[in-house]
Amino acid sequence: MLSSKASCNSHGQDSSYFLGWQIYESNPFDELVNPTGIIQMGLAENQLSFDLVESWLRKNPDAMGLKKDGESVFKELALFQDYHGLPAFKNELVEYMAKIRGNKVKFDPNNLVLAAGATSANETLIFCLADPGDALLLPTPYYPGFDRDLKWRTGVEIVPVYCSSSNGFRITKFALEEAYQRAQKLNLNVKGVLITNPSNPLGTTMTRDELNHLISFAIAKDIHVISDEVFSGTVFDSPGFISIIEAAMDRNLENTNVWSRIHIVYSLSKDLGLPGFRVGMIYSNNETVVSAATKMSSFGLVSSQTQYLLSNMLADKKFTSKYMKENQKRLKKRKEMMVSGLKKAGIECLKGNAGLFCWVDMRNLLSSNTFEAETELWKKILCEVGLNISPGASCHCSEPGWFRVCFANMSHETLQRAMQRIKYFVVERSNMSRSKSKRQLISNWVRKLSSADRDEQER
Ligand SMILES: Cc1ncc(COP(=O)(O)O)c(C=O)c1O
Repeated sequence: MLSSKASCNSHGQDSSYFLGWQIYESNPFDELVNPTGIIQMGLAENQLSFDLVESWLRKNPDAMGLKKDGESVFKELALFQDYHGLPAFKNELVEYMAKIRGNKVKFDPNNLVLAAGATSANETLIFCLADPGDALLLPTPYYPGFDRDLKWRTGVEIVPVYCSSSNGFRITKFALEEAYQRAQKLNLNVKGVLITNPSNPLGTTMTRDELNHLISFAIAKDIHVISDEVFSGTVFDSPGFISIIEAAMDRNLENTNVWSRIHIVYSLSKDLGLPGFRVGMIYSNNETVVSAATKMSSFGLVSSQTQYLLSNMLADKKFTSKYMKENQKRLKKRKEMMVSGLKKAGIECLKGNAGLFCWVDMRNLLSSNTFEAETELWKKILCEVGLNISPGASCHCSEPGWFRVCFANMSHETLQRAMQRIKYFVVERSNMSRSKSKRQLISNWVRKLSSADRDEQER
């Protein structure tokens, strides 16, 4: 009765990433109403600097009230339906993107395509670059939503580039080449490699070496590079953020073929903490991609009301400077709080400098080095400890025991509570295993003594 797309389950909704959310929703934590409920730590949302945005709104009522110099612009905005977007908004966006990159890169608003969030921007870009059955290489671990955004409706295949904990999950030439060869053996036509920089779920920025490997690889294989930079404004520690565009410019690649095969995806969901506004974009130096993506963007436009409000906000350079600085400061403090809280429970994290989450090493809590044991631990932490965290398997990590744990979508007190819960869990667990091994020791002794008694009697 229905289309194969509607009835197939390739959307990825049944991954533990989304299942955790469903279970959380059936029993959400609330300090007053439900203090024993599940704490949501599987949502990469930035609520730490919301007060700054709210304070700006209070001081600028015209932006919300759709007024300019006191006069209503309601009619103008209500009738606006150009899929190229409001020029003022695009100008402000490119300036904001440049500011995040320390103004080392200049962006042209004509190369920008608006979309309803990075979700829509990623899918639109894939529709422009690949046909059903083509493949994209993705370094692991990767954002679980990509199975939906890149594959589901486009029919494109994802081929993982396996990265390992032995080098902090860095992308190597060898891993890229191995994935490419694997795709070829499967008769897949590789159209590009897609990275998230800063990485979701690792919370790290890419090194210049990694970016150079990627660019050289794209040149050698004649493929695209897509850099999802939605977390670029969350870099709170050194080393600083290097955008793929900057790395290519530093190699003077502007007038070479690869320049038109480098594309950026960005949104205001993470850096400004506005996922509900659905503001995303594609930036590409490829005229044909920009033109096709602009036409496709009519399936997921950003409302003119939102564009108007945000163009006013981004035009306030004093505000954006203050916001960026303060937001990074708060993220850093939060991250430190989580890292030290986990450390007190004997749990280590990958060293990170960006993002709204930690990549947490819980390998020492696994009953065996398997993904079954990871799922077993995840269920315990979700249902018994009451924390919704995302298991590495949902991010296609190739090694069991890693989890993504978010820290910016809750209050300081809730994070404190979460850290207490995890510490209690680890302590209880080790007490239990100590008393289990004590019991085991005693029963071994009892068995030994009774067999010694028997031997004595028999003699
Ligand atoms: C790497 C990455 N890309 C894209 C998205 C989707 O962002 P948006 O809310 O702008 O659609 C997310 C959301 O978590 C993400 O982590």
